[in-house]
Amino acid sequence: MNIKSLKLRNFRNYKQLDLEFAPHINILVGNNAQGKTNILEAIYLLAAAKSFRASKESEMIKHNEISSLISGKIQRDAVHKLEITISNIAVKSIKCNTKETQQKEFVGNFNVVLFSPEDLSLIKGSPGQRRRFMDLEISQVNAGYRSLLADYQKILVHRNSLLKDIAHKNKYEKMLEVWDEQLIEVGTRLMVQRAEMIYKLGLLSRLIHRKLSNNQEELILRYSPFYAENNEQLDYDYQTIKSRFSYALAEEKPFELLRGYSLVGPQRDDFIFLINQLDAKRYASQGQQRTAVLSCRLAELEYMKSETGRYPVILLDDVMSELDELRKKYLLKLLDKKVQTIITTTDISDFEPELLQNASVFFVESGQVTERR
Ligand SMILES: Nc1ncnc2c1ncn2[C@@H]1O[C@H](COP(=O)(O)OP(=O)(O)OP(=O)(O)O)[C@@H](O)[C@H]1O
Ligand SMILES: [Mg+2]
Repeated sequence: MNIKSLKLRNFRNYKQLDLEFAPHINILVGNNAQGKTNILEAIYLLAAAKSFRASKESEMIKHNEISSLISGKIQRDAVHKLEITISNIAVKSIKCNTKETQQKEFVGNFNVVLFSPEDLSLIKGSPGQRRRFMDLEISQVNAGYRSLLADYQKILVHRNSLLKDIAHKNKYEKMLEVWDEQLIEVGTRLMVQRAEMIYKLGLLSRLIHRKLSNNQEELILRYSPFYAENNEQLDYDYQTIKSRFSYALAEEKPFELLRGYSLVGPQRDDFIFLINQLDAKRYASQGQQRTAVLSCRLAELEYMKSETGRYPVILLDDVMSELDELRKKYLLKLLDKKVQTIITTTDISDFEPELLQNASVFFVESGQVTERR
């Protein structure tokens, strides 16, 4: 799959941008703060319907403008047009082939894997970040999961508001049982899929990490459901999860009734990176963590390929400067696979002349892009 063209209107520092990408290697070159990452952010948005860095969507609208348009043509069997409009005065609009769609139908049309300098936060950051990673990873390849996730979120909202009512008024307790059942059923199905994804991604990551670390390190990804204690290894079949979930819910119920919201469920899940059996968050060095994340990202490519039959588009933000020769080489080897890659750099001499010959090169300067001819 690849992105053929990108159109931006009033997005970040771009008043107007129309780009055509090469099917293989695309290099965005420019000094700091010129708008390279902004282009990757726009492409990512077309895949995930969310930014990887904006905390508020309105941040992405060009200063002093009212709305922002991000539109792309994606080649996947046929050509599809994806379009997002973010506005200060209206709700976000998401379209696929000019038809208004919901987020859960939009995601999955176009898949990307992003490597960026902030990637370390996948290990160091909060469990919430890792849950978002799991959700996006599975959502990109599995429509069933996107529906389940939306259902679960609705159930959680209803159940929380009922818990609040009960806490205040001391009634409706019977009604809660119906929501309990749904929470457990839908939540369990979500968790089974998360466990499965982390298992598959973990196998792939381990193989890659072995090579990246010269056979020195063993990387393990381990799913850590909300009821896990001490990073223990558990069974993740439907029945086991369901009974642990029910048990945890029964135990926490009195506290939920006191506090007025749900205390157990996959909204509290996590997963961990173990390097040579130790929790990487606590014990690994910066370099080890960086390598582990890189292994995980490279594994994502293979995971998506195995789930959908196609490689996603790779977005590499400023990664060359952070990697040593061995890892750089390994990363660039990827480009042999003919996966479409869009890579940013401040220094074009990071790349061999031979590679540059086969690439489309774009010069980025204060919100203007010119292509090398
Ligand atoms: N909403 C916005 N409206 C206008 N300009 C914006 C907006 N948001 C960000 N910018 C501008 O975009 C520029 C940063 O763009 P970007 O992050 O893409 O830079 P970059 O080329 O990736 O730089 P670096 O090499 O430092 O990573 C900054 O100059 C910033 O002021
Ligand atoms: Mg940048």
